[in-house]
Amino acid sequence: MVKILGICGSPRKKSAYTALKAALEAAEATGDVEVELVELRGRKLNFCIHCNQCTKQGVTYCPVYKDDGMTELYEKFYNADGYIIATPVYEMNITAQLATFFNRFRPTWTILKDNPDFFARKVGGAIAVGGTRNGGQEMAINGILGFYHTQGITVCNGGVCVYAGASLWNPGDGSGTMDDPEGLEKAQGIGRKVAMLTKLLAPAKE
Ligand SMILES: Cc1cc2nc3c(=O)[nH]c(=O)nc-3n(C[C@H](O)[C@H](O)[C@H](O)COP(=O)(O)O)c2cc1C
Repeated sequence: MVKILGICGSPRKKSAYTALKAALEAAEATGDVEVELVELRGRKLNFCIHCNQCTKQGVTYCPVYKDDGMTELYEKFYNADGYIIATPVYEMNITAQLATFFNRFRPTWTILKDNPDFFARKVGGAIAVGGTRNGGQEMAINGILGFYHTQGITVCNGGVCVYAGASLWNPGDGSGTMDDPEGLEKAQGIGRKVAMLTKLLAPAKE
C-alpha cells in the first residue's frame, strides 16, 4: 500500500479542490493506494524569513513558527510516497498560499545534505485551474514542478495529451464547482499516472 498526499493550494473549497479530489479518487481506484487531501484553505501560514534556524539547529521542521498551517504538515509530507499538488492560477502563477507552503520546506536541507536521495523514490504530479482557457495554467504547473525539482522529488507528467500536468478551465468562476469535464479527465489521468509511478518506485514496506 502506498500513500499519496494531495495538497490543495486554494483558499476556497471549489474548483482546484474538485480537480484534486477527482485525481486522488482515480489514484485510489487503481488499488493499493491510500490517499489524503490536505487543504491550505484557512490555515495560518507564516512566510519563510530565511533565518536558517532550521538548518543551523539541524531540525526537519521550522523551529521559529509553530503555525497550524505548517507544523503538522511536515511529517505528513515526509511520510507520503507520492504527491498531487493543485493550485488555482493567480496572476498566471501559483497562489500565495502555495508559494508560502513551498518556501517553508527549507528544513528539508537537514535531511537532504546527508541523504540527497530522500525524496528520489517519491513522485509528484501537478494540477492547475484557471478562470480563463489560457490563463497561465502551464506556468502555474511549472511552479509546482519547480518545487518538486528543488527537493529531488521525481516529477510525474500526465502522459500523452496531458503533458506536464493537468490544466483545467473554470470559466467565469463556474456556476457550480467545476465546469470542465475534459479537464477533469486530465486530472484523473494525473491521478492514475502518479499512482502507477509511485507503486513502481516506492520501497517495499515491512
Ligand atoms: C487574485 C486572483 C488572480 C487570478 N489570476 C488568474 C490568472 O492569471 N489566470 C486565470 O486564468 N485565472 C485567474 N484567476 C481565476 C482563478 O484561477 C479561477 O477562478 C480558479 O478556478 C479559482 O480556483 P478555486 O475555485 O479553487 O478558488 C485569478 C483569481 C484570483 C482571485
